[in-house]
Amino acid sequence: MTSLLHRKTVSLEALHPDHRLKPSLSWWHLIPLGVGAIVGTGIYTLIGVGANLAGPAVLLSFLIAGGVCACAALAYAEVATMIPVSGSAYTYSYVVLGEIIAWAVGWSLILEYSLVVSAVAVGWSGYAVGFLNAVGVHLSTALSVGFYAGGLINLPAIAIIAVVVGLLSLGTRESATVNAVLVAVKIAALGLFVVVAGPHFHVANFHPFMPYGFAGGDVGGTRHGVMAAAAIIFFAFYGFDALSTAAEETKNPGRDLPIGIIGSMVACTAIYVAVAAVAVGAMSYARFANSPEPLALILRQLGQGWTAIAIGAAAVIALPTVILAFLYGQSRIFFVMARDGLLPTGLARVSRRTGAPVRMTIVTGVVVAILAGLAPLDQIASLANAGTLAAFTAVSVCLLVLRRRAPDQPRVYRTPLAWIIGPLAIAGCLYLFWNLPVKTRLFFLVWNLIGLACYFLWRLHRSRNLTS
Ligand code: ALA
Repeated sequence: MTSLLHRKTVSLEALHPDHRLKPSLSWWHLIPLGVGAIVGTGIYTLIGVGANLAGPAVLLSFLIAGGVCACAALAYAEVATMIPVSGSAYTYSYVVLGEIIAWAVGWSLILEYSLVVSAVAVGWSGYAVGFLNAVGVHLSTALSVGFYAGGLINLPAIAIIAVVVGLLSLGTRESATVNAVLVAVKIAALGLFVVVAGPHFHVANFHPFMPYGFAGGDVGGTRHGVMAAAAIIFFAFYGFDALSTAAEETKNPGRDLPIGIIGSMVACTAIYVAVAAVAVGAMSYARFANSPEPLALILRQLGQGWTAIAIGAAAVIALPTVILAFLYGQSRIFFVMARDGLLPTGLARVSRRTGAPVRMTIVTGVVVAILAGLAPLDQIASLANAGTLAAFTAVSVCLLVLRRRAPDQPRVYRTPLAWIIGPLAIAGCLYLFWNLPVKTRLFFLVWNLIGLACYFLWRLHRSRNLTS
């Protein structure tokens, strides 16, 4: 029986003798790739939830969440280039920290990837329903909002997940060209929002700036304040892990990867802060807080109906790429966990015809569709954040452990000031985690206890098989 802290060894050469990817990407390819994976429901919808929790100071929440993510992103870049095989934080933890931690991280990643899919589907649904309304097709609240959010079932969210699952099962991958076009659509729509709503900016809307304070406190049973909002807004920034997995394909990773990662983080933070500043400046935050389509709502209230329709259309067209990217990412993580024997291998079997893990994609699709159909966006997003924060913490710990354990191992990319950036990422992630709603933290704990129970059952089963 292997020890709980048994570490996996990987050698890229041994794993893929003939499959080294051709290095063809530079930083100017990486930045749009990163921005494409990052920009989604966070800025399009959660900006309303954030404003509700922090007031105009949601601007600070964006800066704080962006800063923590940037530190974690730098840690990712070094670790991902040292262990450039699939599986993301799960694989890094298996190689550096041992089996039981890897299991916990894998379990957190399952939560992250599934719930991001549900959350983006719910965000998409908000814009889709608003867009349909604007063009004269009305869907009742009962069928467009989940049971726990005041309706019955969120049918559009379920429908978009079904479509993406169908595409993935056919073996579809995001093509670089389609991705580039959709990134342009997403960014152009946000640019349009800034240009059209910008002239309605009134400084008076920024007073009081921090109605619930920084560290915040309970209002009506929900924690409010800048940090509580940052813990939710954090959702808007992740997705950059897609970049660290492209390390193998980057021409000059030592230069291009940090420029790509930092560049996309800086670009997204700048775009987000501009959009948030204009949104809060154009209209009192209380009027769009908790709207399912805050940006479109603001424009409509400003009398810009056509621009609202255009933004809604852009969200409807472009947000599903985020769903596709995360569902695809999850199938890879499941696949690697099953290959390592930590999940039933039957689940990870790929279809002979399409090469896609169809069974797993469908099982995941059904679970995330049920969640998206019933639960409210803020709760799904905060739970997704809990999983992601755990994974980011693990990767930052891996960075520091590797620096200590293998200081002389060649590194394609070295995180600058690792002993400052690494601890900052860890402390930032833990502090954001602490600011998540109590219910979310409790659920996360229960989820991990279930995970550990499964792990020990699996070990028992494996040792019985080995002895019999
Ligand atoms: N960052 C991604 C989004 O905001 C997950 O949709």
